[in-house]
Amino acid sequence: MKSTIIYLPKLPSVNEFPAETILLYDAVLAKNLDFKKWAAQFNFHISLKAGENLKTLDSLNFVLKKISKMNMSKSTKLTFLGVGGGSVGDFVGFLSSIYMRGRNLVLIPSTWLAAVDSAHGGKNALNILKAKNQIGTFHSANKIYICKNLLLTQPQDRLTESLGEIIKISILADKKLFKFLQEKVNKINGELILQKLPTIIKLKYKIVNSDPFEKKGYRRLLNLGHTMGHVFESALGYPHGVAVLIGLQFALRWSFNLNLLTEKDFFEISNLIEALNIKQNLNNTLKQVSNVKIQKLLLQDKKQTLTKQLDFIFIKSVGQCFKKSVFVSEIMNEVKRQRLEY
Ligand SMILES: NC(=O)c1ccc[n+]([C@@H]2O[C@H](COP(=O)([O-])OP(=O)(O)OC[C@H]3O[C@@H](n4cnc5c(N)ncnc54)[C@H](O)[C@@H]3O)[C@@H](O)[C@H]2O)c1
Ligand SMILES: [Zn+2]
Repeated sequence: MKSTIIYLPKLPSVNEFPAETILLYDAVLAKNLDFKKWAAQFNFHISLKAGENLKTLDSLNFVLKKISKMNMSKSTKLTFLGVGGGSVGDFVGFLSSIYMRGRNLVLIPSTWLAAVDSAHGGKNALNILKAKNQIGTFHSANKIYICKNLLLTQPQDRLTESLGEIIKISILADKKLFKFLQEKVNKINGELILQKLPTIIKLKYKIVNSDPFEKKGYRRLLNLGHTMGHVFESALGYPHGVAVLIGLQFALRWSFNLNLLTEKDFFEISNLIEALNIKQNLNNTLKQVSNVKIQKLLLQDKKQTLTKQLDFIFIKSVGQCFKKSVFVSEIMNEVKRQRLEY
């Protein structure tokens, strides 16, 4: 799975794109006049309202109808350019993979989460009802532009949201990155993330390329923190990155209870997550969602098998994680245990 990553100080020139390019962008970005002017230069452009409602078949149908009314060539040069966060990337990724049985995709992530994670790896997805990512395809972006000035316009909340995925990848694969995060935890800003972005992106591609279509199971490791993360995202509407942070806490506590990792590693990871000082944590999150609801959402997880089993990612140490098949009932027992113990 190969996407060309291009680091730029600002948005690329419109001349770099073929005339048959459809720009699809997060409407929020057009509040910025420079962005608005840039977008207006494309022959074809559509603004989108970002979020989980965008990732639906209804929105897809709406946008497809708009595109079919556009007077443009549908040749193999046709390029979908998605500019926005993970929801826009997932939506435009899916659209580009099915339109005319697949056309070119270029992404310009506008959130840290999309820049560090979701734009890379070729996965996209739409939701069905409240269940996340139920349909999707593998369709890599040909190019991904990382544009400094676009990313630096984001508020602090967006930065915190990306840290779930960044801490996750460091626990999976890079002790040095983990140490860096520990040292800088109170000073993390956009410039620091930009500095580490090439390392973070390479780590993701290393895992993705070992199992591009999720056939061998290695790629599943990227699901660390996501089994319960998706439950909190769906049940409580948490932003993806925040939900992943809370899901990481759950996986950490479970791994520790199973004596898989040392007390030192447990506290190092736990302290790093707590030092981010986000409003939500596992204890107050579990208070807001019932066991019945958690079980229902776990049973909707697309990775669940007929025997009600799921691959869960456990932590052995920083830099070493593994997947193990567990029953939904085992996860529920652990939820109940954590409710009592913490
Ligand atoms: N395909 C994958 O591999 C993958 C991986 C991780 C997450 N995801 C998906 O990504 C989504 C979460 O990503 P996200 O948090 O980027 O989602 P998002 O697109 O919903 O963006 C979050 C919010 O940030 C706003 N925003 C976007 N750019 C901004 C900017 N520059 N300044 C200010 N606000 C801005 C959006 O309008 C939105 O309100 C979820 O749907 C998740 O399932 C996909
Ligand atoms: Zn994620």
